[in-house]
Amino acid sequence: MTNAVHIQRSFEAWRDAARKLIALDVPPDAIAWIDDDSSSLLPELDLPDAAPSAFQVPAEFVGFSRLVACFRDPQRWALLYRMLWRLTHGEKQLLQDATDDDTHRFFAMHRKVRLDRHKMTAFVRFRAVQSEDGSEPHYIAWHRPDHFILRLTAPFFQRRFASMKWTILTPDESVTWDGTDLRFSEGVPASQAPAGDELETLWRTYYANSFNPARLNLKMMRREMPVRHWATLPETEVIDDLIREAPRRVEEMVKKQTATKCKSTGSAADFLPPRISLPQLRDAIQGCRGCDLYCNATQAVFGEGPKDASIIFVGEQPGDQEDLAGKPFVGPSGHLLDEVMEEVGIPRDEVYVTNAVKHFKFEPRGTRRIHAKPNAREMAACKPWLASEISVIKPEIVVCLGSTAAQQLLGKQFRVTKSRGEWIKTDFAPRVMATVHPSSLLRMPDHDARVQARKMFTHDLNLVAKALRKMKASA
Ligand code: URA
Ligand code: SF4
Repeated sequence: MTNAVHIQRSFEAWRDAARKLIALDVPPDAIAWIDDDSSSLLPELDLPDAAPSAFQVPAEFVGFSRLVACFRDPQRWALLYRMLWRLTHGEKQLLQDATDDDTHRFFAMHRKVRLDRHKMTAFVRFRAVQSEDGSEPHYIAWHRPDHFILRLTAPFFQRRFASMKWTILTPDESVTWDGTDLRFSEGVPASQAPAGDELETLWRTYYANSFNPARLNLKMMRREMPVRHWATLPETEVIDDLIREAPRRVEEMVKKQTATKCKSTGSAADFLPPRISLPQLRDAIQGCRGCDLYCNATQAVFGEGPKDASIIFVGEQPGDQEDLAGKPFVGPSGHLLDEVMEEVGIPRDEVYVTNAVKHFKFEPRGTRRIHAKPNAREMAACKPWLASEISVIKPEIVVCLGSTAAQQLLGKQFRVTKSRGEWIKTDFAPRVMATVHPSSLLRMPDHDARVQARKMFTHDLNLVAKALRKMKASA
């Protein structure tokens, strides 16, 4: 018999129900997932209150499911449950099987939701509505996402526009930030969205300011922005000005943001999740305001790799590309690192990569964002994230890339130039080594010096590869 489970478009509701259903051994085809308030003729399944015993699924599944849950298709819940069922019933490798229909749909949905979310962060524009009593204006935006991404994306706006009061209306639901809390309410049809007023001009200026000129790329925008968004943007006409004035605006924006918006607590410890696991840390870090770096970066970039990795590579901080992609070491330094790892035989998929500091610090230079070194305060504030990653993974080997990582883990006195390639025994890992950061090679203007530096870098990673092989042989 099929039973109904109502979940009201909530990932958490699905997850709670799914956990219980797996514990009760209820197969996928015995469940009809009902997404909204619509009544169904099926009997409602009575689920026990108590949390059932835990079971293991890949962290990747949990993280990705949160996005897949936003996909606009009522079948997504059944897909997620079917995959969860299969993962817990002998198909542990399901996510690696790209030819499987469920896996294929799962990743395709994930990709589309990510893109939709990205578009929302790039293309929402606010309009000021002046209040009657002359207090601060309230900012309103109207947006029509393809998927149910408002809850997923609202924290991004909360961080970016923390000092303003604003509302984003969508047909599905709306969200308001009152300076303290995010509140969700009903959606509104387009016809009821606030119309233009005499503040239109001011709005255009505002849009021009809130638009991140560091990432201004008109061709990309035209390609990525669906026509229906493009057509409704009144600021289309100011785009030319934007391009012309981008360099100046970047500087102003950064100044303004640091002046008015950043409110940090001094330590990431204030934002650690109650239970320390990689998925929970990964979730929690997006809310971190441990130092001011959260203000101007796009997002926090958490580490990546298997939970049971035997090696952790620690870099300095995400770079420009990592900041946009949300993943560590995907830019030029990452490519070089991958290349050398491959050369010396360190299996890339057994390695966890992360950074000493999790938000990108940069100086605007024209339309470019130039890497800036994190200072001692920022490093100290951010350390709890790295310490937590290491405590969960408990690696055999930690490799510090460059002096920021080395000093974060081995102390301020540590000098990479003096002690590179040496094994050090520490409390957090039996073998820790520091070497240079791959970006230092990329920056060398002189060809011969670069070749020599790469040789030394390869030599250091070779020591790591040897240690890894020895460790495996004796395991
Ligand atoms: N450099 C780093 O230190 N970390 C990254 O993630 C990318 C570049
Ligand atoms: Fe938090 Fe680290 Fe980002 Fe600072 S850099 S806000 S401490 S995650």
